[in-house]
Amino acid sequence: MIKSSYTRLLCILGLIFLSHAASSAVHEVKEGGSIQAAVTKAQTGDVIRVFPGTYHETVYVDKDDISLIGVVEDGQWPHLDGQKILNDAILYSGNGFSVEWFKITHYKGNAIMGQSGNNFSIRNNWVIDTGLYGIFPEFGHNGLIENNILSGIEDAAIYVGMSDYVDVRNNQVFDNVAGIEIENSRHVLVEGNVARNNTGGILVFITPGLPIKSSYDAIVRRNFITNNNTPNFAIPGSLVAGIPSGTGILVMSGDKVVIEDNIITGNNTGGIIVTSGDFVTEVASDKDSDPHSDEVMIRNNIMFDNGNDPDGEMKLLMLSKFSTKGPDILAYQSATAKERGSCISRREAYRSYGLDDWADCDAPTVRAADAVTSAQEISTTRQLITKMLPVPAEPRVITVDADGAEVVYNGICAGCHAYNVRLIGPPAFVIQAQYGDDAKAIADYVANPERRRPDFPSMPPQSHVSEEMRLLVAQYMLSLTE
Ligand code: HEC
Repeated sequence: MIKSSYTRLLCILGLIFLSHAASSAVHEVKEGGSIQAAVTKAQTGDVIRVFPGTYHETVYVDKDDISLIGVVEDGQWPHLDGQKILNDAILYSGNGFSVEWFKITHYKGNAIMGQSGNNFSIRNNWVIDTGLYGIFPEFGHNGLIENNILSGIEDAAIYVGMSDYVDVRNNQVFDNVAGIEIENSRHVLVEGNVARNNTGGILVFITPGLPIKSSYDAIVRRNFITNNNTPNFAIPGSLVAGIPSGTGILVMSGDKVVIEDNIITGNNTGGIIVTSGDFVTEVASDKDSDPHSDEVMIRNNIMFDNGNDPDGEMKLLMLSKFSTKGPDILAYQSATAKERGSCISRREAYRSYGLDDWADCDAPTVRAADAVTSAQEISTTRQLITKMLPVPAEPRVITVDADGAEVVYNGICAGCHAYNVRLIGPPAFVIQAQYGDDAKAIADYVANPERRRPDFPSMPPQSHVSEEMRLLVAQYMLSLTE
C-alpha cells in the first residue's frame, strides 16, 4: 500500500517534470553563432547552451527565467572576450536568470551585471580583467553567487550592490582592488571564499548618497582572507581608491555584521578594520544613513601575521599609538562615534586597538562547544546557514512610468552615480547643476555617451533602455534630492 502510493507519487512527479521540461526549449549556440540571437529567440523558461569557442559580444537578457549554460568540453570553455573594446559581457534585467560555466575576459565595464532582476544564480564562471566590476548584481532580491573565480578587476570583483538575501559562497577572488564588496545590502552570507592578494579582501559598507541607505545583517564566515597587499590600482578619485592596501576585512558603516571562523593572515595594514563612513570618503554626509558601524560581532577567527607594513594614513595612525605595526583588529570610528552593541570573543588572542568598550561575545552561532571530536557532533552542530529566501522573491516588474524609472535608475545608474559622492561616474547633483531641467539631453547622452571628463572613464552606452524609459529615468535623476 505504502509502496504503491509512493510509486504513484513518483509517476506524478515524473509527469510534472516532463511537462515542465517540454515547455522550456533548449537553444544551442556554437562557435561563429551569436548568443544574443539565441536570447532574442528564446522565451521565458528556455535554456541556452553555449558550446566552446570565442564570442565577442554583449549579451543582454530582459526576459524572465532564462538560463545561459556554458558547455565545457575537453577543457575548452565558451569564452566571452570583450577585447577591451566592449563594455559588458552579460547584462540581465530579467528575473530568475541563471548563468554558469563561462570564461569571460577583457571587457571594460562588467562581466556579469544584474540590473534589478530578482532570483538570480551565478555559478562556476571564470572572470579575468573585465574592467570595473566582475560579478555585480545591482538592486536584486534573492540570489546565489557560487564557485566563481575572478581576478584583475579594477573596482570590486564580486559586488553585491543594494541587494537583499544573497549568498556568496566558495568563490576565489585574487589580484583585484576589492575582492568581495557588500554595499548598501541586507541579509547577505559570505562563506567559504578565498580572498587573497587583493587590495582589500572582503568589505561590508555603506556608500552614502545611494537610494538604499543601510547595510546590515551580513555574516562573513569561514573565509580565507590572506595577503591582501596589492597596491591600489582603482581609478584615482573613485571610492575604492581610498581602501588602504593590506586590508583583510573592512566594515565601514555596516551594522549587525558577524565575522566568525575565518582565517585571516598576512594582511599588511590590518586583519579586520571596523570604522565609520569618513574612513575612505570625505563626503560622508547622508542624513538618512548612519555612518557608524554598530553591532559588529567578531568571533573565533584565526589571525596572525597581519599589520606588518601599514599603508598610508593607517601608518600615521599606528605611529600615533606608538606602533610601527598594524593590528589584527582595529576599531576606529570617527570622534563622535560610540560603539553600539559590538562584541569580540577571545580578545586576548589578538593585537587590537580600539576595542576597549566592546563587550565579550558568546560562543559562535553554529558550534555549541569549542571542542568537536566526533562526526556526529559535527553533523548536529554545523547546520547550513543561508540568507536566501525559502521561496523565490516576487519577480520585479518594470512598468513604463515613474515607478519603473526608479527601478531602472536604481538597477543601472546608481551602480555608478551616487547623489553627492564620486563613484565611477560624477555625482548626480553635479549632473543636475549641468543639465537644469533638460531631461531630454540626458536621455540622449545616455544612449550614446561621449567622453567629457579626462579624469573619469567613459560612460558605457545604455541604449538597451528604450527611448521612453530613458526620458523617465532622466527625469528621475533630475528630481533626486539626496
Ligand atoms: C558603469 C558606470 C556608469 C553607469 C552604469 C552609468 N553611468 Fe552615467 N556616467 C558614468 C561616467 C564614468 C560618466 C562621466 C563620463 C565623462 O565625463 O566622460 C558619466 C556621466 C554621466 C552624465 C553626464 C554627461 C555630461 O554631459 O557630462 C549623465 C547625464 C549620466 N552619466 C547619466 C546616467 C544615467 C541616467 C545612467 C543610467 C541609465 C547612467 N549614467 C549610468 C558612468 C556610468
